[in-house]
Amino acid sequence: MVLQDKKALVTGASRGIGRAITDRFLLEGAEVWGLGSREPADLEAWTARTSGKLHWISLDLSSLDTIEPLMQEHLKAAQGFDILVNNAGITKDNLAFRMRLEDFQKVLDVNLSAAFVLARLLGRDMLRRRKGAIINMSSVVGLHGNGGQSNYAASKAGLIGLTKSLAQETASRGIRVNAVAPGFIDSDMTRALPEEVREKMLDRIPLKRLGSPEEVAAAVLFLASDAAAYITGQVLAVDGGMFC
Ligand SMILES: NC(=O)c1ccc[n+]([C@@H]2O[C@H](COP(=O)([O-])OP(=O)(O)OC[C@H]3O[C@@H](n4cnc5c(N)ncnc54)[C@H](OP(=O)(O)O)[C@@H]3O)[C@@H](O)[C@H]2O)c1
Repeated sequence: MVLQDKKALVTGASRGIGRAITDRFLLEGAEVWGLGSREPADLEAWTARTSGKLHWISLDLSSLDTIEPLMQEHLKAAQGFDILVNNAGITKDNLAFRMRLEDFQKVLDVNLSAAFVLARLLGRDMLRRRKGAIINMSSVVGLHGNGGQSNYAASKAGLIGLTKSLAQETASRGIRVNAVAPGFIDSDMTRALPEEVREKMLDRIPLKRLGSPEEVAAAVLFLASDAAAYITGQVLAVDGGMFC
């Protein structure tokens, strides 16, 4: 129970990696506020299994101006978060020269700017309390780029810059900021890819399989926990050796 008595906000908690992080945090004793653009269909059953330790926030992170005002009541209820996981993310893939500016901007808004707004909002309170851990969900694509994903790659590279800068600004006040860079993980996001793309990706993974959301959640748990007390400003790749 490495997160006993900790309070965490996890974005993109309804599905995939965010859901696995939420479930793992709950298992480790944390009280978790899960956030998504809408309630998951099984929310009632899900919360019933958590002895009141899961709370849900429906909030569209693409409406950047509404994040702070809509979060106020939840901040009050939680009385301060110990952990923020900026996990929510979207793709709108296309070749750069065919990409509409609005599709570039939307991906930047959800993946990067919303993470900044939440880190600033929750970070202010963490600074006052002189403790906190922030984990940003980047991607190997943010480290290496990917044709057809210039918007997504820019947002994930931006998260790495945000992570390292925030880490430098907040370390002296007891806050740690790190990023996780998953490779090819089995979730709705990758299930939406054409079969030939999935097969090509598999060829490039030395461990010869996709990662699971639970394997990413284990890395996030480590960075959120006191086991990582001396680690800040880092990017932890969880990619089956894709870029080793
Ligand atoms: N899967 C991979 O291979 C992989 C690899 C590298 C990095 N990642 C990153 O890991 C994170 C999670 O990926 P995943 O594969 O679990 O994705 P996913 O299954 O598509 O889930 C995305 C999550 O983000 C939430 N979300 C999307 N738009 C939102 C918005 N406007 N407001 C609030 N929430 C929003 C979704 O909630 P709603 O359902 O409510 O919209 C959902 O919970 C993402 O940041 C992704 O870029 C994934």
